[in-house]
Amino acid sequence: MTALPAFRNEPLLELRRAPERARLDDALRALDTRLPLRVPIWIGDERRDGDALRSTDPGTPDRVVATAPIATADDAHAAVAAAQAAFPAWAATPAADRAATLVRGAAWMRERRAELAALCVRECAKPWAEADADVAEAIDFLEYYARGALVLADAPPGLVQVPGERNTLRYAPRGVCAVIAPWNFPLAIPAGMTAAALATGNSVVLKPAEQAPGCGRMVVEALRAGGVPPAALALLPGEGETGAALAAHPGVATIAFTGSGAVGLELLRTAAAKPPQAGVLTRVVAEMGGKNCVLVDADADLDDAVPAIVHSAFAYAGQKCSAAARVLVHEAVADALLERLAGAVAVLPVGQAEAHGTVTGPVVEEAAQARVARYAQLASDTGTIAARRDPPTSPGWFAGPTVATDLPSESPVLSEEIFGPLLAVERVCDLDEACDRVDALPFALTGGLFARNPRTIAQVASRSPVGNLYVNRGITGAMVGRQPFGGNRLSGTGTKAGGPDYLLQFVEPRVMTENT
Ligand code: SER
Repeated sequence: MTALPAFRNEPLLELRRAPERARLDDALRALDTRLPLRVPIWIGDERRDGDALRSTDPGTPDRVVATAPIATADDAHAAVAAAQAAFPAWAATPAADRAATLVRGAAWMRERRAELAALCVRECAKPWAEADADVAEAIDFLEYYARGALVLADAPPGLVQVPGERNTLRYAPRGVCAVIAPWNFPLAIPAGMTAAALATGNSVVLKPAEQAPGCGRMVVEALRAGGVPPAALALLPGEGETGAALAAHPGVATIAFTGSGAVGLELLRTAAAKPPQAGVLTRVVAEMGGKNCVLVDADADLDDAVPAIVHSAFAYAGQKCSAAARVLVHEAVADALLERLAGAVAVLPVGQAEAHGTVTGPVVEEAAQARVARYAQLASDTGTIAARRDPPTSPGWFAGPTVATDLPSESPVLSEEIFGPLLAVERVCDLDEACDRVDALPFALTGGLFARNPRTIAQVASRSPVGNLYVNRGITGAMVGRQPFGGNRLSGTGTKAGGPDYLLQFVEPRVMTENT
């Protein structure tokens, strides 16, 4: 096997250091002089610019960050046709060479960390620490899947052998992969899905989120700079219809998607509806939503629980699929927890993403602000608001972090994914009741538990349906390789991103039996 050094996560920047912060500020100022970025439809070496699509700064909505054309069904067709044409050569490229392109792509990103983080701040209002983590995670995915692809190619699982017969298993790429990406990890998630597909020899058409085409372009730039042939990686900016046309194309063998449950289910239907004459069973790898619960037992250490819950619920304005949405707390400590959560929310750094130290910035767009306000109003009408921060009076799409309690059990606030800074707290008489409530949810993405008794921890772990359970810590921020990430039930199909079996979704196994 070609040797690459063992994988290690990209270290985060030390943002307590003034020179580090100054470097980021400089990068943001430099970026601002170049706005708006132009994001083309980019198929092979052909680029077509346009401005039908505009991403704007959620903190200053009249600032246009990137302009792009909206790719049509014809563009999707052209992109898939080009990717199909490029597929055989890329599939035949030795795994070691494909891995090397990813590693070089990661190096390209590493050299531009400040610039890339600045773009996340501007285009998606990620506070600096989150933006830096996004860039680091993108680098991690490239490095991790490069290594994973080498393992698949060079050391596939052994088969049972009997005298006179040789059995071998190898993994072949599936074909064209449509990557349909979200805006909330605007570099890391598209980079991860795209890198997984490319590492295993598939060609890719990437459709970035309409809120983050600028970041999508940087992912393609990085991989092409690393040596991915232009024909093997197309960029297709657009809106939902672009993604729908791409997914429906009979030439697409795999759809890798991260986003809302509604779109994920639609993609599954689209894949299933392709006519048999298309000759493809399109595989859908989908990471969808969550309604993530943190359980707090009577013996929990509230000094740990309070900051972890606040960060999990309100960092990046609650716009992570892993974010905490509900706290189920033992009634013996419920009042104490609520009081301390209210105190923590009162001092939560809320403001513009670019202000160092901000934890909760604006939400991504006006519709998100309106959605969060609707649920907050419902919580206020039907329950008790235990804490609420008024949003800054800046022009951005701010939503004030809110903690609600005493909600009726059938409240949509407790069952629907809000994707914003609204946390519901419920009292339970014991953790069995809490587990029952978690089990009643259709989602099963992340979950948390604060408890000291090892038997309680074991009992909750055995009952927990979620893909990622975190004990005595926050529930966001899965690290590539350390916490393979992904959910069960309506939270997603397939195996976990950043884990050892993720790449298997992008290949098909082929067995050869040879009589010797
Ligand atoms: N992987 C992210 C996290 O763990 C969510 O997409 O927070």
